Amino acid sequence: MCGIVGYVGSDNAKEIIIDGLKRLEYRGYDSAGVAVVQDGKILLKKHVGGIANLENLIGDDPMASGTGIGHTRWATHGAPSDVNAHPHLSADEQIAVVHNGIIENYVELRKMLTEQHGIRFRSETDSEVIAQLIGIHYEGNLEDAVYKAVAQMRGAYAISVIAADQPEKIVAVRKDAPLIAGLGKGCNFIASDIPALLKYVKEIYLIENNETVVLTPDSVKIYDDERNEVSRDVFHVTWDADAAEKEGYEHFMLKEIYEQPKGLHETISRRLNEDGTIKLDGISMTREDIEGFNKIYIVACGTAYHAGLVGKYIIEKLAKVPVEVDVASEFRYRDPYVDDKTLFIAISQSGETLDTLAALREAKRKGARVLSVVNVVGSSVARESDDVFYTWAGPEIAVASTKAYTTQLMCMYLIGLYMGYEKGTITREYYDQFIADLMDVSGKLEASLKNAGIIEGLSRMLYNKEQVFFIGRGLDSSVSYEGSLKLKEISYINSFAIAAGELKHGTIALIEPGTLVVTLATQDFLYEKMLSNIQEVKARGAHVLSIAKEGNTEIETHSNEVLYIPACRDEITPLLSVVPLQLFAYYVARERGCNIDKPKNLAKSVTVE
Ligand code: AGP
Repeated sequence: MCGIVGYVGSDNAKEIIIDGLKRLEYRGYDSAGVAVVQDGKILLKKHVGGIANLENLIGDDPMASGTGIGHTRWATHGAPSDVNAHPHLSADEQIAVVHNGIIENYVELRKMLTEQHGIRFRSETDSEVIAQLIGIHYEGNLEDAVYKAVAQMRGAYAISVIAADQPEKIVAVRKDAPLIAGLGKGCNFIASDIPALLKYVKEIYLIENNETVVLTPDSVKIYDDERNEVSRDVFHVTWDADAAEKEGYEHFMLKEIYEQPKGLHETISRRLNEDGTIKLDGISMTREDIEGFNKIYIVACGTAYHAGLVGKYIIEKLAKVPVEVDVASEFRYRDPYVDDKTLFIAISQSGETLDTLAALREAKRKGARVLSVVNVVGSSVARESDDVFYTWAGPEIAVASTKAYTTQLMCMYLIGLYMGYEKGTITREYYDQFIADLMDVSGKLEASLKNAGIIEGLSRMLYNKEQVFFIGRGLDSSVSYEGSLKLKEISYINSFAIAAGELKHGTIALIEPGTLVVTLATQDFLYEKMLSNIQEVKARGAHVLSIAKEGNTEIETHSNEVLYIPACRDEITPLLSVVPLQLFAYYVARERGCNIDKPKNLAKSVTVE
């Protein structure tokens, strides 16, 4: 998620902005920049990489000015680079802009600006469009120019703008991306998030959607989209800096669990055309290409591999093509059969996992078409793929992956639906209903998160189990592997997942009275079989915690506790059933006093063999 900081006052804006950007580093970024108003000009410095690179670039230049804006970029359009970093300038260099969000109609705006105004774009970004739009509208009144530009934009944006001939003014706008104003004495601030300002102010305005803010050293005025001034209560910040980075959540992992409804909505909603068909931006596969694949490999590690297990099931079912899932560390050394009729799908949150990258290179060497599902824009896996499908989950800070997993699942559904629709292996009616069901997931997930308190209570009772089994059938089996990994990697409990039908082939010997068995029973067509497996472990004294669809009260007679997920079609239950397992792992680890965001021995990205 990009970070924005702006300052207008009598101190050195650059110093305050750089300090504020450092307090937003936790949000994840790949480049940084700052622009100030100095002697009728805009002074701009920006650099790819960390804020230290920017500071080295600035060197001893005080960039003396009391008015400036700064930015840390989390790339969405255009790989991380100096030129793609923010702030962006208008053609005449009179306007500078920083932006957090995505301008959905940037392609048509770029076209219009180029053809009708002769604008020569410097960057690949959607954000530069904003600077150029304001630039063509600017005639001395910055608010006017911003309103005119915003009226032409579609998408999500938080922006801050300065003008070379306005030495004591910042104009900012918010629409579907966070923005706050900090209220100082003889100075004022604008930022994406509270941590950037905590050192300087404790009183802020929370800016609401479609509002424009005009800041000078002595005033902060807020206007609605009709340009009427609106009043706003002052919000008094009581958090300390550390708590504020997590927006009040105790850990990043919990924050990211709660960000899943938004992430899922972002991943699907921006990929639907007006007619409901899927637009797989970043994917150039034609119908002929899709019909030409006679084998698909899905290759990944850890949680991403578990997303591939669901992907196998879904893509085979929808696109009627054989799918093999493998862990990257095995795939790369087993001389797999791959040719030019193979589609190789790499899944990776970081896009830097060495095993996954090596497996991708092996598949490419053998002639496969490579599609990657990645969260970090411009990462190695993304750069080396023929097609990239970004998950748009935003930076995932906690080592234990949560929102990346569910948005990876959403990408699996969209790829399966796209391929099935192109191949004609599913009807338009089936496709439309499936898309509608996927669009409902975000709301269902929001509702089910309200039951977190029940899970927290359960964890207090079950946190001291030394061994836990996760079992399921079909898609529930795939999700049980993810539930088990979540528990073991943050609570250090020895947890184990196995297909429920496999229990009787040996593992059931380990079930003792009191052994905790988490049973996933969401697949209607497999329910009777799953019930038998639950009864098998119950008969041996297991403590059974079941995950089931709302409405299935019968399972309560066979379980010690039941956690319910909203009713939905069998195929999409993984998007919902994994969340109680994430929360269970989180609360158990918290009860055990574990370092949840940075578990022992683990790294967020495994860039070694
Ligand atoms: C998941 O919670 C773990 N952090 C780990 O298994 C992770 O999924 C794996 O290392 C793959 O990482 P990637 O998605 O960045 O490639």
